[in-house]
Amino acid sequence: MDVLPSDSLAGKYCLVTGGTAGIGFITARELASRGARVVIVGRNAAKCAASVEAIRRTTGSGAVSVLVGDLSLQRDVRRVAQEYRDGFPRLDVLVNNAGGLYLDRHLSGDGIEMTFALNHLGYFLLTWLLLDLLRASAPARVVNVSSEAHRRIHLDFDDLQCARRYSGFRAYARSKLANLYFTYDLAGRVPASEVTVNALHPGLVSTSFGKNNGMRALLIWAIARWFAISPEEGARTPVYLAASPGVAGMSGKYFIAERPCPSSPVSYDREAARHLWNRSAEMVGA
Ligand SMILES: NC(=O)c1ccc[n+]([C@@H]2O[C@H](COP(=O)([O-])OP(=O)(O)OC[C@H]3O[C@@H](n4cnc5c(N)ncnc54)[C@H](OP(=O)(O)O)[C@@H]3O)[C@@H](O)[C@H]2O)c1
Repeated sequence: MDVLPSDSLAGKYCLVTGGTAGIGFITARELASRGARVVIVGRNAAKCAASVEAIRRTTGSGAVSVLVGDLSLQRDVRRVAQEYRDGFPRLDVLVNNAGGLYLDRHLSGDGIEMTFALNHLGYFLLTWLLLDLLRASAPARVVNVSSEAHRRIHLDFDDLQCARRYSGFRAYARSKLANLYFTYDLAGRVPASEVTVNALHPGLVSTSFGKNNGMRALLIWAIARWFAISPEEGARTPVYLAASPGVAGMSGKYFIAERPCPSSPVSYDREAARHLWNRSAEMVGA
């Protein structure tokens, strides 16, 4: 990706979750190459250290650091948010990207279905805990990595954690719809002059996504990789939303390939979004 002078992020602070691999790693690297001070979040300290080293080496930036935490665990999200506050004076861009697909139903350490805990509540709680810092850093940006998987699905508020007839793909699709509800609802709560909030689909991207599911995922990827784009291409839209002056002041939108696109009709249901917000706030004690 070329760095345009207008995309410069010199003096900006960016936090990228899931910055150790795939789309998040390239996003973090590209933001660092634009001059941002970048903090990545990952679960594994050694993998985090290797990723930071790789970003420093390829960008020449020394302004890359790490916070270690499992974002499916609310106590870790709270600690990561606190460590960020303790370590850094402002937050200009938060990229909520860490996510997973779980073909078998797992519970997080908090006893919450894993997909919902990580893909939705992880975004919700981290953003909530850092919102005042984002506002104080205005104009700031929140970038939520969602997916086209959100289409042809709705949330079941009687079964948010997919306890009945679990399907990993359905749980994933619902979590990505939840990302859109969260994006649109938050955009309506915060003035765009302070914080813009947008979501995106990165494309079908050849990463490690889903490979925690053993042979089944490997079989899926054996076919999918023929249609998939590279992580560099997949990171284009998150980087665009994080850095481009072209989206300054634009909020509450869904982007594909650096363009605003309509998301599913269901995703614009304000009642559902408000309901999800309230239920999420209860679940995280916000
Ligand atoms: N790949 C696609 O085709 C595609 C399509 C649409 C949307 N997306 C979305 O893009 C985002 C990134 O996916 P990706 O394809 O880049 O996947 P990936 O290569 O598997 O990377 C996922 C990242 O999330 C981190 N992560 C996973 N579980 C975590 C946890 N419990 N706590 C903290 N960090 C955790 C991983 O860290 P570790 O290093 O610790 O594993 C890794 O850095 C996801 O939100 C996904 O839903 C992907």
